[in-house]
Amino acid sequence: MKIGVYGGTFDPPHLGHMAAAAQIREKLGLDRLILIPAKQPPHKALDQNSAPPEARLRMTELMAEGIQPSGGVTVDGMELARTGASYTADTMDALAARYPDDELWLVMGSDMFLSFHTWYDPQRICAAAGICGFTRSPQEELEPLERQAERLRQTFGARAEAVVLPQVLEVSSSEVRSLLAEGKLDDASGLLWCQVYGYLLREGLYGTHADLKHLPDDQLRAVSYSMMRAKRIPHVQGTEEEAERLARRWGGNVDYARRAAILHDCTKYYTVEEHFAVCDRYGVTLDELERHGEKLLHAKTGAALAEHVFGEPPEVRDAICYHTTGKGDMTLLEKILYIADYMEPHRAFPGVERLRELAYTDLDAAVALGCEMSIAEMDEKGRVVHPNTREALNSLRHGKEWEHV
Ligand SMILES: [Fe+2]
Ligand SMILES: [Fe+2]
Repeated sequence: MKIGVYGGTFDPPHLGHMAAAAQIREKLGLDRLILIPAKQPPHKALDQNSAPPEARLRMTELMAEGIQPSGGVTVDGMELARTGASYTADTMDALAARYPDDELWLVMGSDMFLSFHTWYDPQRICAAAGICGFTRSPQEELEPLERQAERLRQTFGARAEAVVLPQVLEVSSSEVRSLLAEGKLDDASGLLWCQVYGYLLREGLYGTHADLKHLPDDQLRAVSYSMMRAKRIPHVQGTEEEAERLARRWGGNVDYARRAAILHDCTKYYTVEEHFAVCDRYGVTLDELERHGEKLLHAKTGAALAEHVFGEPPEVRDAICYHTTGKGDMTLLEKILYIADYMEPHRAFPGVERLRELAYTDLDAAVALGCEMSIAEMDEKGRVVHPNTREALNSLRHGKEWEHV
């Protein structure tokens, strides 16, 4: 296996890192790329306004998940766990011991590459891995890098390569930190993977003071995405689009529909312990079924966070609370989120087209059909259907005939 190792302070990781990681993986034909946030780089003093190590680790993990095509990029916090100065030579020794049969490549931008011979124990690094330097701007000449590669081959017997990254993005972490500290959030967000941006807003890093209870839509989106796995983001985006469209179609509150959709799955990846902690903290009561069903829990805890952390009104809170089960006498907003989540453009299952059609012609019939499909699915799996779903169905059916359902 060919494994790349890409270190940096990642303070914060930005789109330049992301583009470089994606391209270097392709260029070197790596099977795997390991990102390693550095604790105290001996050759670079950390900025006063830098984020704590655990935050840099988390942000790097979030960025790694967003790299396309997905998979094969991992993050290792081994340097952060060290006390005192952290040397790349130690890291590469550890990785060489961990992957004795694999081919390791240490990759870095040209600035690092050109000074590599001055690092601590370059000989030891070269014994453990090949060294690859890449260009950091579209204008940068490859020639100095090629000369350095030759020098490393001659001096250390290194396997060394210099490569051009055609779609490299010139971004620096210090530039991002300055923009954030100056409150130029829109500019900063354009240089960051959305989940990283959301995370640093949520944690108030780099001098940001976002008021979570009054976030504009774009910041609310980023914060919500930062709480989930990257692969879920398209679903949440699809739900938002669909909820907004449905709110326009049926005369609902478009802002509420949008914000409910943005937040509806924000606790989807919580552990059971985290769900229970939210319930304890905000006095959320759970019935027996909810206690044992993670799918049900995320609706309850997402609703609690929408209200208590993000300051959303009761209408939004309730739409999130019932987006999985439905309930008797649903409000328009509750129906909209329920069905938008069910049939947003990324959903693919038998019958979804019928749901999509009905949602714009007869919303109650669409929600009823959704409930019926859920009940059938639960029955098939031998699971207990939440009473709210049957109540939703009963109240929607009340006095109506669903000959087309
Ligand atoms: Fe959900
Ligand atoms: Fe969802």
